[in-house]
Amino acid sequence: MPSNPDFSWLNGQIVPWDNCVLHARSQAAFWGANVFEGVRAYWSEETGQLSLFRLQEHLTRLRASMKCVGMRIAYSDAELIEATLELLRANQVREDTHIVIAAYFGTGPNFDPMQHIEETGVHITALPLGRSPRFETGASACISSWRRISDDAMPPRIKTGANYHNSRLAQHEATRNGYDTAFFLNHRGTLAEAPGSCVMMVRDGELCTPPGTSGVLEGITVQSISQLAQEVLGIGTHKREIDRTELYLADEVFIAGTLSEIQPITTVDRQAVGTGAPGPLTRQLQDLYEVAVRGTADAYGWNLPVYVPSQGRGVISKGEAIDAAVV
Ligand SMILES: Cc1ncc(COP(=O)(O)O)c(C=O)c1O
Repeated sequence: MPSNPDFSWLNGQIVPWDNCVLHARSQAAFWGANVFEGVRAYWSEETGQLSLFRLQEHLTRLRASMKCVGMRIAYSDAELIEATLELLRANQVREDTHIVIAAYFGTGPNFDPMQHIEETGVHITALPLGRSPRFETGASACISSWRRISDDAMPPRIKTGANYHNSRLAQHEATRNGYDTAFFLNHRGTLAEAPGSCVMMVRDGELCTPPGTSGVLEGITVQSISQLAQEVLGIGTHKREIDRTELYLADEVFIAGTLSEIQPITTVDRQAVGTGAPGPLTRQLQDLYEVAVRGTADAYGWNLPVYVPSQGRGVISKGEAIDAAVV
């Protein structure tokens, strides 16, 4: 068992990690009836600061997911931001970390799992998570035999735990067959996304990605990359449907997401993408992304510092953290 952080945040309180639990018969645990966001915080040795990357944009998407599933929660964005900061400080995080903010449906009257209920809650957990080695080496992808869920049945635009059943089927199949990841096609047969990331392609000097209407979670990483590509390199991003064979013919392909960051895809269905090595534009975008997420310049207002500089590089004592916790 990997060791866990000391604390989580549950419904307004810092709690010991093991106390961050929902009942097995809650709608969240039983149906995956939740909406959530995965957010990264990046540590900079240079500044001795931990910065949350685009937290507000993640909360805006969380609200969009909540609207689609008819969920209300007791916390404002400002309170969720404060809670996230409080948790990271309590755990004294000083390394790259992945945070999950999840709003969930609780237990219905008579434990009815289907009925709409107003009983909701929020949990926030943060685990250390460094960069994948595939950021450097790249990854292999197959076209999944599973189709992406679609807006007329299970909208991928809603970031709910239940949707990840579809992602798991594709990821497990890919791994069983010796690939690192998978690409879903949608019901029209055009590219949707990877199990937990969006997909971008470079073809004839153009940067392309499928639109939200292709069965895709509307990605914050894609938006960040597109803005960097436009503003720094003068390269626009075309949101358009992408055919399967375009992936074979692309000069470069990469996946983009909070968790995966930017991972070059070097083969699709065992055919080399471009030269079979991570491409030059992918490498340029990785460099720009690294500067943007690390928060040293914060040229776009995307970084939220966790520690107040006057606190002396943000260090609080273990005692202070435990005092702050409701045990
Ligand atoms: C299914 C899916 N698609 C795309 C993404 C990429 O979204 P983002 O860049 O906002 O993290 C994610 C990651 O959250 C995801 O789970």
